[in-house]
Parts: sequence; structure tokens; C-alpha cells
Amino acid sequence: CGIVGYVGDDTAGQIVHGGLENLDYRGYDSAGMALLGDDGLTITKREGEVSNLSVPTVTGATCGIGHTRWSTHGPPTDTNAHPHTGMSDDIAVVHNGIIENYEELRATLVADGHEFTSETDTEVVPHLLERELDDGRDLRAALESAVAKLEGSYAIATVCADTDRIVATRHESPLVVGHDDDAAFLASDVTAFVEHTRDVTYLEDGDIVTLADGDATVYRDGEVVDRPIDTVEWDATAAEKGGYDHYMLKEIHEQPTALRQALSGRIDLDRGTADLDLTFPAGFLDSLDEIQFVACGTSFYAAEYAAQLIESFADVRATAELASEYTVDGGGDPRRTLTVAVTQSGETADTLGALRRANGGGIRTLAVTNTLGSTVTRDADDSLFIRAGPEIGVAATKTFASQVTTLALLSVFVAQERNALSAADARDVLTDLRGLPGAVQQVLDDAGDVREAATAFVDASAYFFVGRAHGYPVALEGALKLKEIAYDHAEGFAAGELKHGPLALVTEDTPILAVLTEGTRPEETLNNVAEAQTRGAPAIGIVDGSVETNSLDTAFSVPSLGPVTPLVANVYFQLFAYAIAKQQGRSIDKPRNLAKSVTVE
Ligand code: G6P
Repeated sequence: CGIVGYVGDDTAGQIVHGGLENLDYRGYDSAGMALLGDDGLTITKREGEVSNLSVPTVTGATCGIGHTRWSTHGPPTDTNAHPHTGMSDDIAVVHNGIIENYEELRATLVADGHEFTSETDTEVVPHLLERELDDGRDLRAALESAVAKLEGSYAIATVCADTDRIVATRHESPLVVGHDDDAAFLASDVTAFVEHTRDVTYLEDGDIVTLADGDATVYRDGEVVDRPIDTVEWDATAAEKGGYDHYMLKEIHEQPTALRQALSGRIDLDRGTADLDLTFPAGFLDSLDEIQFVACGTSFYAAEYAAQLIESFADVRATAELASEYTVDGGGDPRRTLTVAVTQSGETADTLGALRRANGGGIRTLAVTNTLGSTVTRDADDSLFIRAGPEIGVAATKTFASQVTTLALLSVFVAQERNALSAADARDVLTDLRGLPGAVQQVLDDAGDVREAATAFVDASAYFFVGRAHGYPVALEGALKLKEIAYDHAEGFAAGELKHGPLALVTEDTPILAVLTEGTRPEETLNNVAEAQTRGAPAIGIVDGSVETNSLDTAFSVPSLGPVTPLVANVYFQLFAYAIAKQQGRSIDKPRNLAKSVTVE
């Protein structure tokens, strides 16, 4: 979901609508806005994408809030869209997150005579606010008092007919304020307003902010507090399509740049060191028994790749666990454990939940994320940024590449602290990492061949991706991309497992896509591919010359880059998924039923 707010001299309707359009990749099943004009509040909301929502003409509207929704409670309908109102239409509320005790609150309010019109958890908020306002509180005090009754996670913004301001607050859901000369902005993500200003303040849990007269004031426990103003390092053009048909394709092509950014200033080849701005307590890394990665979706596959790298370089047990399945029960000594939360958005509820469980178990935690100021960076003891720049396409592409690259640097860093990797071996890995931007560029230059292959296989009944070692998480990620954007059945398997069941699914209509490069035990994988070919399946391989691959039906070449070669192979999988989805006319940047950042567990 996305929240936008604006107070300033310009026409609020256009600015709020523009902000919603910038945010609609976060949730897009309905949208709405509330504009405060000379004649009070005007509320419009619509099921569907932001483009379905027209901006009403409201005289004197210089203050407004808007919302784009990804449903959690109640299906996407006009009524369930935000903003929500109370008994009267004089108060409007937009909300991200989940109010866990809403049923209980709703029952109390109904008993008090309040009538509800939607099936959402959010609707309790305007009703609670109404009650507080009726008790004589101003909007800020009313919001403070109302949210004290809420359990769950929320970013809430509200406007009220007779108060020329927006009041907002957050708890475990992001909110950022933008400062311009004569205007103040509010959003769940800076992308909403970065075209207007790059001067931002990230709010903290429990802050209450008022936006009035073009200014923002942050309160904490009723007192004004100073929060720093940061400058966003990228500009609006970085969040636009730049001539590509889809954000996803643009982002696939941005990978060389993203990787250069991830590596910039972090490699010292002379000394053979990875220089990360991370400080752990003396002896901590050396005494570790285990590093646990927690993540979801694509980030989980990046984490699986990283766990393998850590084990091979740093001589320490490393595991990747799905954040939604993570527990600290039965673990080892928490003082000898490091939990690393990998999340490009920094806001995925499952990952934040796992991080909290680790924190609660006394484990030191590290966030690896793309998003400065995100919740994960506040909740973890330390943070490491992947520096990929904004990613708008729902299906993650460049952030996966940047995650694996940054985590490879982390692996070298940890290995050095533990004296597990010689400077010469570290130099080899770092040289391979240095080669990544160029190697990825080489693959991108061959994109035409992948389009042809996609044309040949677009009618397949299913696609099976296989790989071993570092090729395994890449196979899983390759299948996920195809599933997400083409809506076709695609599965990733450990190549050795193909014969233990999935082979029953193999036919001449199920191409096998295999990673057959360095770092993936290609000879063995090729045997498994042959087992599928014998059953009629066509085979596509990503190869680097480390094994004889004449038996393949189609082969795509990548340069050998040691343990990160499969990361380069993955770019072919991204292009393949994109080409298949494009030929089928899918909604590539906004696949059905999915959202970029899932802030509910
Ligand atoms: C959602 C997105 C996926 C993403 C996952 C984890 O499900 O659709 O593309 O991989 O969340 O996101 P994160 O921001 O934690 O990396």
C-alpha cells in the first residue's frame, strides 16, 4: 500500500494524484484521495489502478492525502478503498499496515452507536478519532490518543474538515516527510514525491507529525522534537522508465551500474580486503558458531546464495531460512550467532518479524537492504546497503544482483575477520566481483538471442530450472521470475533432485533450463539434464566453457567469474522470463495479485 500527503501553495489534487501514480507499484487494487478545500473535505475513491481515479475539482484545495491499496481486510471495492471516514465525512483517514484488534474496537464503537460501511480494519480509526475530537481534543491529541488503543502496525495520515493540516503517525510501517520551500510532503516511500524534493525526514515509531502552512513539525509525547533532514541521493529520473517498455527491463539493464555502486569503494585489491563500513564488537565474528540469514521471495534466494558463500569462504556454519518459518527455538548460543535480515525494501513484515525474534533471543542482527531509513535499519544492530537505486518493477531483478554481490563482499569481510581466507584467495574473489558489471553487460548485449529462444518455447506447458551449488538458488530465482510475470508454471529444482520425483512431470513440452557454469558442478548437472532430454524435454543451458555442452539444444555463454558466475547466468533467466511474459502480453511491472513490498505477515 502507499500513502501520500501534501500541504502547500499548489493544487493538492494534482500533486497527490501524481504521488499515487509514483507509488502504485506498491499496491494497486484501489486508490483514493481526500482534498481539503474552501467547502470542506472532498473524498473520491475507486477500485482498480490509480489511473481509474480522476482528480476532482476542489476550490482552494492546498491540502490533501491519498492512498493506493493492496487489500488485506476486505476485497478491493470502492467502499473498501481508502480514505475512510467516520460517522460524518468531515474526517478522512488513510492507513498502511494491519490493525490487529480492530474487531474488538469495532464492537465497542458499534455499541456506542457508530455505523460502519466497509469491511476494512482501517475504518475503526476515523471513528476513534471522531470520539476523541468530540471529547474536545485537537486533531493531533486525538490521533495520539486514538493510536494508543491500536494493536498492530500502521502508518496513518488524517485530515479533518475544519483543520487546515495533515496529522500523521507511524508504528512499524514507514512514513517519510519531504520538505520544500513552501510545501511539505508526506509518503510511505520517497518515490512518491522525489520529483518535488529530495530533502526528507524519516519518522520514527511513535512520532506524530503535523503538516501545515507548508511546514512539517514532529512531536513526541506532546513535545516538538528535532529530526534530521537527509538528502535522497537519487533523483526522479532514476524512478522513471527511461525509454524502456517496462521498469523491469530498465532495471535488468541497470544491473551493471547497480553492481558498480554496490562495489564502489568496498574493494581494496592491493591488500586483498573487502572494506565494509561495519564494526562488530571485538572478537565477535571470530567467535561465531553460526550465521543465519532470514528473508522472503527473491531475497531468500540471494540469502541462500550468500549462505553457501559464507560457508565456503569463512569457515562458519551458515543457513538461510524463510523469514516466515524462522524461530530461535533450539538454536545454539545466541552470543555466538549473527542473524542477517536480507530485504530490499526493508519493510517486509515476515522478515521484520524474524528479525524481532532474533533480537528478542539476544542474537546480534544485521540488516542488508536497499532502503535507507527503512524499518529494518532501525530494528537491526547494524546495516549494510546494497545501493541498487529504486526498483519499481514488482519482480526483483537488479536488487537480487546487488544483494548477492554485497553479500559476497560480506562473506569475504567475515572470512578475513576469522582468518579463514588468505589475502591471495580473497583477491581472487574480489577480482571476480570486479568483473561482474562488465560480464552482466556482455549478457545484456546478447539479449536478442534470448528473445528468439523465448519465441521457440513460449507455448511450453511448464518450465523447469535446475542447478547445483550456487546454481541452485539461481535456478529457484529463475523459476520465480517466470512464475511472477508470465503466470506460467515454473519450478526450480536442485539438479540432483530431478530424478527423485519431478522427472515424472517432464515431457517434450517442458523445457529444462540449467546452470552449467563454474561454481555449479556442471558435469553432474549435465547428467541430470540428459535424463530429462531422454524423456523428450528440450534443454537450454547457461554455460561458460567449463564443461562440454554440445548435447544442449540451446546454449548461452557467460564469462567465468568463479563463484559469482551463476549470478551472471541469472541475467539470461531474467531476460528469458521477461521475453516470455512480453510475448504473452502480461502486466509485467505489476503482476496480478502481487505487491512490491508485503507489509503484512
Ligand atoms: C514481495 C515481492 C518479491 C520480494 C519479496 C521480498 O513478495 O513481490 O519480489 O522478493 O516481497 O521483498 P524484500 O523487500 O523483503 O526483499
